[in-house]
Parts: sequence; C-alpha cells; structure tokens
Amino acid sequence: MRHLIGLLLGTEEDWPTAFETVLRRLGPIDGVGEFGVERLTIEPFNLRAKPRHELVIDRLAYWYYHPREWLKKISMMDDVYLLNSPFTFQSMEKHTAYCAMIRLGLKVPETVLVPYKNPPDNDRYPYTAARYNRPFDLDEVAGQIGYPLFMKPYDGGAWRGVSKVRDEEELHRAYDESGEMLMHLQQAVEGYDAFARSLSIGAETMVMRFRPEEPMHDRYVVDHAFLSPSAGEEVVTIGKLVNAFFRWEFNSCETLIKGSDVHPIDYANACPDVALTSLHYYFPWAIKALVKWSVFCVATRRRPRIDLETHDFFAVTGTYEERLAEYRRLADAYFETERYEEFCRTHLGHLDEIVLDWVAGPEFDRLLVDTVTATYPEHERDRFVEHFRGLLRLWAKDNGF
Ligand SMILES: Nc1ncnc2c1ncn2[C@@H]1O[C@H](COP(=O)(O)OP(=O)(O)O)[C@@H](O)[C@H]1O
Ligand SMILES: [Mg+2]
Repeated sequence: MRHLIGLLLGTEEDWPTAFETVLRRLGPIDGVGEFGVERLTIEPFNLRAKPRHELVIDRLAYWYYHPREWLKKISMMDDVYLLNSPFTFQSMEKHTAYCAMIRLGLKVPETVLVPYKNPPDNDRYPYTAARYNRPFDLDEVAGQIGYPLFMKPYDGGAWRGVSKVRDEEELHRAYDESGEMLMHLQQAVEGYDAFARSLSIGAETMVMRFRPEEPMHDRYVVDHAFLSPSAGEEVVTIGKLVNAFFRWEFNSCETLIKGSDVHPIDYANACPDVALTSLHYYFPWAIKALVKWSVFCVATRRRPRIDLETHDFFAVTGTYEERLAEYRRLADAYFETERYEEFCRTHLGHLDEIVLDWVAGPEFDRLLVDTVTATYPEHERDRFVEHFRGLLRLWAKDNGF
C-alpha cells in the first residue's frame, strides 16, 4: 500500500528536502506500506473533489486564504490528517490562548485588551462605537498593570508590532503606532532566569534555551541543563497542554522562568519556523519527529479532531501541581503518547541510524550549503557554513557517530 503525504509550503526548501530525504531513506515500513511525499499547489478546487493525500503538513495557510480554505475542506469533508487544526488556528489566536490558559490556572502575566487606536475604516463605525465604546484612560489601564509592560497585537506572531513600554511617553507612542491593530498590554516578566522555547511535534517536545535578543542563527542555544528537572517538566507539560487543548501538533511555546515560576507568554505559533539555520543542532530532531509523527498518524489512521472537549480540561481541580499532572495526563491521552512510543519502537527503530548516517554524510552537507547560500549574503556564507557544520557535527557526535 502506498500512502501519500502532501506539503503545503512557503518559500522554504531546507526542511521539506530533509523530510523527503528521510522518508525516502526510510523505505517501506513493515505492516504499513510505502510513503510518498508531494509538494502541493492549490488550484481552483471543487468542494466535492476527493483529495489524494492522507496527511498534509502546512506552512502556508496562516498567510493565504485560498490554501487555508482548502485545508478546512479536506479536514471537514475527507478526514485528511492535518498537524494543526485549521479551525482553532484561525479562530483562537493569541488572545483566546491567553484566556484558556488563564482559566486553566497557568501563570500568564496580567493582560488587558484595549480598543483600536484608529478605528476600522468603515462608515458606520463612529455611530456604532458611540454606542459601545466609551472613552477610557490609557494611562490608568497601564498604571494598573505597572511598567514595564509589553504592547502586542492580540493575534500576534513573528514580533510584528511588539514593543516594550517603560513609561507613559512610550505607551502613547506605541499606541499611536498601533493604528488599526488590536493590542494587548501585558505585564513584563522582568529579570527572568531563563527563556525557554519549546517546539512540539506530535507527542514530542523539545525544550530549548532561547535568546530573543540575538540574531536568528544564535537564538537557540545548545544547552541541555539550563532548567531544573522540575521546571523542565513543567515547560513540557505547558506546551503539551496548549497543543492538546487547541489540537495543535506542530507548534512552539515560549515561557519565561523566574525563580520557581514558569510564565507562558506566547504559545499560539502553529507551524513555527523550523529552518536549518535557526534550529541548527535541533534540526535533525525536528525532522525525525515530523517523520515519526506523520507516519504514526497515517499508519494508525488517527482521525483529525474538530471537537475540542474543553470541559475535560476546565473540570480539573486541585493545587497547581495537581492540575498540571492531570493536564499532562489529558494531553498524553490526546497525543496517544504510549501508543506512539510503542509504534516508534516496533516500526521505526531504524530511523535514528538512518538520520545519523544522513546528517553525517554528503547529502546533508549539500543541503546545509544550499540553505546557507539561499539565506546569507555572499560575504557571510563561508563563516555560516562552518558555524552550522560545527553544530551539526556536534549533534552527530552526541548521537553516537
Ligand atoms: N510579558 C512579557 N514579559 C517579558 N518579555 C516579553 C513579554 N511579552 C513579550 N515579551 C518579549 O517580546 C517578544 C515577542 O513577544 P511575543 O508575545 O512572543 O510575540 P510574537 O507572537 O510576535 O512572537 C518575546 O519573545 C519576548 O522576548
Ligand atoms: Mg513569540
């Protein structure tokens, strides 16, 4: 039997090539069959057309509506497996994610949503607004949160429109600049000990030390012990909880760790950046997890879930620790973690070696050089080729090469 996986891509070449290569090298899987991959293009589509793909990985639909609606169609009508629910992804942006996680008791910093600075360009708006939108005192709202704070769009991503605000003058400047964007004011977590970015792919989560102030290639730091074991587990649980709650299976979560507290600040990042030049050392892990989870979902005929069953989560009571433990249990049930691990052991036991061989060999090196060539200006290429080669060699060594 041949299974077909579709890729819906933006401009990236690196991880799709890696994904295709690993799947090809993996070959047919006992009792499951053979896997093919295809890069998709979306033409006008009939709503009754039958898709040929069993699973689609998407990195495009966040920005473009036509592929987004195609994804919703194949999910709603044909049960094609998508790693992120296009329904929640569209309707439950950062704002809703904050609301849900606050309700579940997570330590989300104080957050207030303020009305538009410039109302939408619509003739009827002033009349309607006069009825529902009373004047308010921005300084007072900010004063209650306290400075410094962050102003950021309610549906943000990629740092668009994010600013740190230290006083009233900066507050008004940032608000004036926000224009027609709808903004949150959020208390800043100051003087945190660590910034953790966790990348989740299906049942697996990688927690990485992150330095947002650095250029892209230096943001993820290779550091295996930057959190205490309990904080590390808490970060994993929070990422899994968000993902199980919203049916996001390819997502990243940002948490700030201060003392013994873990504060989640950004976790609606479905289809996050997984470029070789940003993940470097962690890139082979991401490709393996993407291959394993895709194969697992197709092989076990895992069905997309359009329902959310939020009350299973909301019904959990107890102390913070007790609730986290129960959230973890619910999340692992959603991700079928045990079944996934068993499947990987029995059907994909040879994947580690295949990926290690590939990363240490010439085909991967070509991919690395091509990616750097496409990403950096000529005078920086040699330096970055060596930089990333070094990190990937380290990965190969750490993994037994
Ligand atoms: N409450 C906060 N406390 C401290 N830093 C924050 C806070 N909110 C945002 N930041 C900083 O701003 C960056 C961008 O904000 P974020 O909420 O992640 O927006 P985006 O969705 O655009 O990535 C974060 O990576 C972090 O460095
Ligand atoms: Mg962010």
